[in-house]
Amino acid sequence: MQVYENIQEFKNQIKSIKQANLSIGFVPTMGYLHEGHLSLVEAAKNENDIVIMSIFVNPLQFGPNEDYSTYPRDFGRDKELAEEAGVDLIFAPQPEEMYPRTPSIQFTVSERVNVLCGRKREGHFDGVAAVLTKLFHLAEPDRAYFGLKDAQQVAVVDGLIKDFNFPIQLSPVETVREEDGLAKSSRNVKLTSEERREAPEIYAALKYGKDMFLSGIGAEDVERMISERLRERTSGTVDYVEIYEYPFLKAPDQSSEKIIIAAALQYSNARLIDNVIFSTG
Ligand code: PAJ
Repeated sequence: MQVYENIQEFKNQIKSIKQANLSIGFVPTMGYLHEGHLSLVEAAKNENDIVIMSIFVNPLQFGPNEDYSTYPRDFGRDKELAEEAGVDLIFAPQPEEMYPRTPSIQFTVSERVNVLCGRKREGHFDGVAAVLTKLFHLAEPDRAYFGLKDAQQVAVVDGLIKDFNFPIQLSPVETVREEDGLAKSSRNVKLTSEERREAPEIYAALKYGKDMFLSGIGAEDVERMISERLRERTSGTVDYVEIYEYPFLKAPDQSSEKIIIAAALQYSNARLIDNVIFSTG
């Protein structure tokens, strides 16, 4: 496995991969890898000749009061896990390499962001769109792999790829969970043992909400039922519980084919998100 920190060297390598006519599957991450990330690698391996992973904690997507400086990092372990999983090439630039000067152009994502995390984390998806635009240009992938754990991110990337005609196929991958149902996340290490014990309730409450929704109860009532259940059964603060049509993230109606129910719970040192996506038919 090769590791590149330097943009020019990385680009040279991409050029030779392209000249050899090999297909590239790309897995962008912020590191501190877990099985969720590795499931993206597995999907990429199945469909491409070469798998490239980026590891970069992107400062642009963290708000001033968010956890950029304390975001967990362990590059040595990440390299081992990536190699075992079959990654061919890691791109892991330093922030100065990616952003040597204040960018002269900024992204404003305007659709699919006024709800869920986008509403709570102002500018977050602008930063995601900016870094992915750079990474897509550098890695020139045929396919890019994103986890549905971050379903709003998948929706935003879908818009980015279509709006700017990136010749990239977006490949969403199912959420990988712990045995008790908690969605795997780099931030789970920041939970206290009590919080970790009760955190599976997030997924349980979402599944309960799905059953209620499919039984014909209206979206607002279901949102309230899930919130109440989370308040009763966890010590976290409910940040949001929302139901939309997926991937457009508009209010659901009779014609909606796919529905997302998503929740965010704020714990003492970590904010956890999860969702369920299902067909109405
Ligand atoms: P990060 O949080 O490191 O996640 C990298 C990828 O792993 C994302 O596509 C995310 O949805 C996926 N992922 C995380 N947990 C998962 C799980 N339990 N099951 C399946 N997939 C999971 O998302 C980012 O980084 C950044 O915003 C990034 C896209 C790299 C841009 O900076």
